[in-house]
Amino acid sequence: MSIIAVPKERAAGERRVALVPDVAKRLMAKGMDIHIESGMGESAFFADADFKDVKTHADAASLCASADVVLKVQPPTVAEVQQLKEGAILIGFMNAHKNLDMVQALCEKNITALAMELVPRISRAQSIDALSSQASIAGYKAVLMAADRAPVFFPMLTTAAGTIRPAKVLIIGAGVAGLQAIATARRLGAIVEAYDVRAATKEQCESLGAKFIDMGIKAEGQGGYARELTEDEKQQQRDILAKHIAAANVVITTAAIPGRPSPKIIMQNMVEGMKAGSVIIDIAAEGGGNCELTQAGETIEHQGVIIHAPLNVASQMPVHASEMYAKNLLNLLDLLIKDGHIQLNWDDEVIAGSTLTHNGAIQHAATKALLAKN
Ligand code: NAI
Repeated sequence: MSIIAVPKERAAGERRVALVPDVAKRLMAKGMDIHIESGMGESAFFADADFKDVKTHADAASLCASADVVLKVQPPTVAEVQQLKEGAILIGFMNAHKNLDMVQALCEKNITALAMELVPRISRAQSIDALSSQASIAGYKAVLMAADRAPVFFPMLTTAAGTIRPAKVLIIGAGVAGLQAIATARRLGAIVEAYDVRAATKEQCESLGAKFIDMGIKAEGQGGYARELTEDEKQQQRDILAKHIAAANVVITTAAIPGRPSPKIIMQNMVEGMKAGSVIIDIAAEGGGNCELTQAGETIEHQGVIIHAPLNVASQMPVHASEMYAKNLLNLLDLLIKDGHIQLNWDDEVIAGSTLTHNGAIQHAATKALLAKN
């Protein structure tokens, strides 16, 4: 019987966990032997006792030594890789470009590492797409953070003390997080405008009740992502957006370009054009942020405008973030489990496309090129 093991997450600030009781039960029903490190689920409010019929280990080293598959949220440290069984499968976010030593350790231990951020974004893999499940949480939470910090109501209110006008919310970047932010801000009653460089998002924004700011820039890149704008396009974008930003009570920024720093869309003079008491929530902070003044992980105030740039937003909602992430892992494991055994089918483009390391070598071209340069 194959052993699937889940150690505690040890990265600072990480509250999500890679396994929840319901998914553990389903994996056991598929013939898997499930082992966890004691206290693994506690940061997401799942006690050891909630994981029925699962074996618990007092420490990660003894847990991982015999595991065929190890599930994680955050990339492992080099020390965590060294605890794995030679030839084991590791599944989680890897952020390889920021963890090249760890990637080398994976090769030395002959680990097959499946990186959740590399799962191809094709229809068949939607149920495995952890970038989407976690981005959707970030988009929702960003609106609540904004509502909490804004000195105004979001909805229109007609009261005995007068009529309150609804807040104006501008969402920049209408990918998975941005679309969820539009839906959430609309549910709270705000007037919502949205902007993205991909023309395909116009209809999606409008169907959720946002007014789309159309600048005529079309920047569709590869794989459904955006490409980087030219200098002229960036200036055109800033000129038009400045007016909309100045009129907004809240701006939520989510714009990202894969493998590149987040584009700088809101410059200092645009912040200075905003009303005092306005709020910017920059959830692109992980990649450096979309606002020139953003300080990743910090909240600052500039001429009365609050700029809040949280990191790892999904971790702030650990119950549902863990449930969704664990479900993504279950759907990926479904592709690996055949008749109660783990088998890697290299003809499956989802498995092949997600593989960072295998057989002692890096399989992901961009990471391989990066390591060769270092
Ligand atoms: P992301 O996190 O890479 O970027 C967020 C948004 O920022 C994107 O919509 C992008 O177009 C936008 N952006 C980039 N530069 C910008 C700029 N200068 N100004 C304004 N906006 C800018 O994207 P995310 O949310 O991860 O998904 C992007 C694409 O992937 C979408 O087309 C989505 O439909 C597709 N997708 C496909 C899936 C599937 O078929 N399995 C699953 C999830 C997403």
